[in-house]
Amino acid sequence: MKHVIGVDLGTSAVKVVLVNQQGQIVNEVSKPYPLIQEKSGYSEQDPNEWVTQTTAALKELVSTFNGDVASIDGLSFSGQMHGLVLLDNNNEVLRNAILWNDTRTTEQCQQIYNLVGEEKLLQITKNPALEGFTLPKLLWVKQYEPETFAKASVFMLPKDYLRYKMTGQIHSEYSDAAGTLLLNVAEKSWSEEMCELTGIPANICPPLVESHGNVGTITAQFASETGLAESTKVFAGGADNACGAIGSGILSKGKTLCSIGTSGVVLSYEEEKDRDFGGKVHYFNHGEENTFYTMGVTLAAGYSLSWFKDVFAKEEAFETLLQGLENVPVGANGLLFTPYVVGERTPHADATIRASFIGMDASHERIDFARAVIEGITFSLQESIDIFRQSGKTIDTIISIGGGAKNETWLQIQADVFNAKIVKLQSEQGPAIGAAILAAYGSGWASSLQECADAFLIEDIVYEPIPENVEKYATLFNLYKQVYSQTKELNEGLKSFRKN
Ligand code: XUL
Repeated sequence: MKHVIGVDLGTSAVKVVLVNQQGQIVNEVSKPYPLIQEKSGYSEQDPNEWVTQTTAALKELVSTFNGDVASIDGLSFSGQMHGLVLLDNNNEVLRNAILWNDTRTTEQCQQIYNLVGEEKLLQITKNPALEGFTLPKLLWVKQYEPETFAKASVFMLPKDYLRYKMTGQIHSEYSDAAGTLLLNVAEKSWSEEMCELTGIPANICPPLVESHGNVGTITAQFASETGLAESTKVFAGGADNACGAIGSGILSKGKTLCSIGTSGVVLSYEEEKDRDFGGKVHYFNHGEENTFYTMGVTLAAGYSLSWFKDVFAKEEAFETLLQGLENVPVGANGLLFTPYVVGERTPHADATIRASFIGMDASHERIDFARAVIEGITFSLQESIDIFRQSGKTIDTIISIGGGAKNETWLQIQADVFNAKIVKLQSEQGPAIGAAILAAYGSGWASSLQECADAFLIEDIVYEPIPENVEKYATLFNLYKQVYSQTKELNEGLKSFRKN
């Protein structure tokens, strides 16, 4: 039996999965790496740590695989988006990667608006200037670390750097390039105009390929370090959200995904290259050739819950922290949480806002707080669903993946808050499966990504909205929405007291 490998380079860990021709995960290994957060709003990682941990994960995956390594036809990637990796003339890393959830670049976002103008920016890139995207990070390095910027010969996105270390080939692909603000999304080419207007040399943009494009095989050195065969073909891969969508079958009109990982996204498939959402939601190239998706993002979804656990239940497992979640009534006994622990993206692109618990009562216990955190994350995602519905999209069924799909109570909360059917797949690991599907399609196992997804994905449980809860959540959601405007000024006042 043949196999493929999906490598999901996430924010908290890399996960590698070995998948057979029936789409079953035969083996999986995950290795963590830390975030480097020197100041409030900063979020970095050492790119070589990604390489070390991925090498270790693949080595373990191969050493515990009973089959023949030559049966592994191909390997592809899913990667955390937007992160800036800068390489010098010798292709050595120049500084730590600045990640998607780093919000230091508010000033550079304003510069982009001044230099390009909002209308042109939306026309070319389909997206607003947000702190998390790559171009503001390039401008930050140019402004504050000019010696480093002067040495840069190419910029890369996280999984593209990892792939370079495995193959020796430098490329980017459209789904991740779309999140840089340097791609002409509709035309699928680096925008010389964006480069010129913002003062970024166009020659630091890497060559572009399709997500299923074969970029070569692994190097002899990487093969000997991991035990993989040198013949293993490597395919470009995609942005984690594009891969999450492929790995959940979001490959035709009307399909919607809710993915709760470190960030949380609600994503909807688009065939057209120029639908106008006025920049309210992101509009990116899909990992499927010549298609697109729109997406709203909660910056700290799973991250709000892991922050809460790390601070208030460090030694405990998530399962223990969430024990009894189902017994807390809708509304967490009057406690509301906004998940803005690192600022927010959709619908409030605001790097200064921070989280709140509203309504703390002497009777509240830790489990009420945990339920409020989970409900708050879900309300934040509901704000994106609201935007989609207001634009005329019908959203009645949503595939749910990621950490948020591991807990039954949370899946029911999603059904009730979103007022939609929630479908849980047998595997909630969308991005890694999406990467494996890209490798399988690239290897010729199927005639389309859709055909491959149909063969690989199995629906497990469907959660129906409970009308009584839907009504209660609608009332709570109206209260939730007020917290942002009521706490905006307070957080601006508190900003100078944050860790600097
Ligand atoms: C999307 C975004 C996040 C990251 C997480 O725009 O910033 O979802 O892709 O890795």
